[in-house]
Amino acid sequence: MSDAAAAVDPYLDRTARERLEEYQAFLRIPSISALSEHAGDMRTAAEWLAERMRAIGLEHVEVSPTAGHPVVYGDWLHAEGAPTVLVYGHYDVQPVDPLELWVRPPFEPRIEDGRIYARGAADDKGQIHLHLWAARAWLETKGRLPVNVRYLFEGEEESGSVNFDAWLQANRQRLGADLAVISDSGFFQGNVPAITIGLRGLMYAQIDVTGPSQDLHSGTYGGNVQNPANALAVILAGLRDPDGTVAVPGFYDEVRALSEAERREFARLAFDEDGMARETGVPALFGEPGFGALERRGARPTLDVNGLWGGFQGEGSKTIIPAHAHAKVSCRLVPDMDPKRTFQRVRDHVAALTPPGVRVETQLISDGLWSLTGIDHPATRAAAQCLQEVFGQSPVYLREGGSIPAAASFGSMLGLPVVLLGFTPPDDHAHSPNEFMTLANYEGGIRTIARYWEALASALAR
Ligand code: BES
Ligand code: ZN
Repeated sequence: MSDAAAAVDPYLDRTARERLEEYQAFLRIPSISALSEHAGDMRTAAEWLAERMRAIGLEHVEVSPTAGHPVVYGDWLHAEGAPTVLVYGHYDVQPVDPLELWVRPPFEPRIEDGRIYARGAADDKGQIHLHLWAARAWLETKGRLPVNVRYLFEGEEESGSVNFDAWLQANRQRLGADLAVISDSGFFQGNVPAITIGLRGLMYAQIDVTGPSQDLHSGTYGGNVQNPANALAVILAGLRDPDGTVAVPGFYDEVRALSEAERREFARLAFDEDGMARETGVPALFGEPGFGALERRGARPTLDVNGLWGGFQGEGSKTIIPAHAHAKVSCRLVPDMDPKRTFQRVRDHVAALTPPGVRVETQLISDGLWSLTGIDHPATRAAAQCLQEVFGQSPVYLREGGSIPAAASFGSMLGLPVVLLGFTPPDDHAHSPNEFMTLANYEGGIRTIARYWEALASALAR
């Protein structure tokens, strides 16, 4: 039996209660990176992590500043001759609105039916926490780790990682590693273990339409002054065709077509499209014609309005022409699209669609690159083997629709192979009310990582 299984598993079995208490303490910190009123909580979460990392014996632990929220770094580098792994996760979480749909408040964790509910339980605090316990289990039972590990926990992933590349650039000298492991993804439908091999990129923009210098009486001025809200509706309607295809000129120019072999890989996954409709509560799925749901999610770009506002939102009626109207719009990007180029195309198309009588401004809020890796790296094969041992099933390989800008950065800036090994259940309500992690996946995740360090030491032995 491997050391991981023989020594680490019994330790994990006896410390489950302490672990859950600690997990919940982490979840109580409302570390919402997007909202400036939570800047103090971001700091608290970073310090909390750093304190835990020091307590379990990690070294060089530091809360390292960026132009935004800090990066938390720590390492353990005493596995002489063994490979070095850079572990990435994020301690920030998404905003929690609409609050009224949460069964219990988002930062008051609740354990029920084998699930732990709270914002960040799955994405991504639970997955950071399971890494700390995998390390702790090794250090407490064996006094060592089988590999060298550098932990890198970001505080702005959910805000588009806007300061992360600059931090990486400034610190790259001290980040030498053989590969990066990211635990910020999850399992496939039915809770089948998965290794993620593709992520989409993102381009996030805000459109501001301005008209009169203040709200006007719609009787006195209606018919003579362009309405910014109507103008915004015209603009947004022109961004997509009715069938869901993006209507921005040039948008698809760099999109890499799916090969026959890739389409066969997607088809092999036998995805339950009706199940997706049921799970989300929509009457039917909707998307670009000619592709299956998994292909649209993993390999086709999108343009979505994420929010829009302007004018009167209160009770009853108020007859005005609003002075301004706004929308947040984002595009998911696939190989070989360029986020900046996509932004310029969207901005130009918005300008072309804007009716007379208003001004429009389109600003880029954040962007991040897509990533795509193979399945045949020895580190990926070792991960598959560990998932199979712990969860009793071999993993599927997924091209996911979400984005993790750091994944591309580790490849392009540090030249590292990246393994996306995450454990969240497929219906975890990430970014939604009542987000949860299952305790089975959390505990299995710790045991998988504990085995993985040992497996990597032999798979990548030099
Ligand atoms: N954990 C997700 C990424 C993810 C989602 C991976 C689904 C696999 C499947 C991550 O924390 C996330 O949500 N990222 C943001 C990034 C954005 C703000 C740049 C996203 O995808 O919206
Ligand atoms: Zn995440």
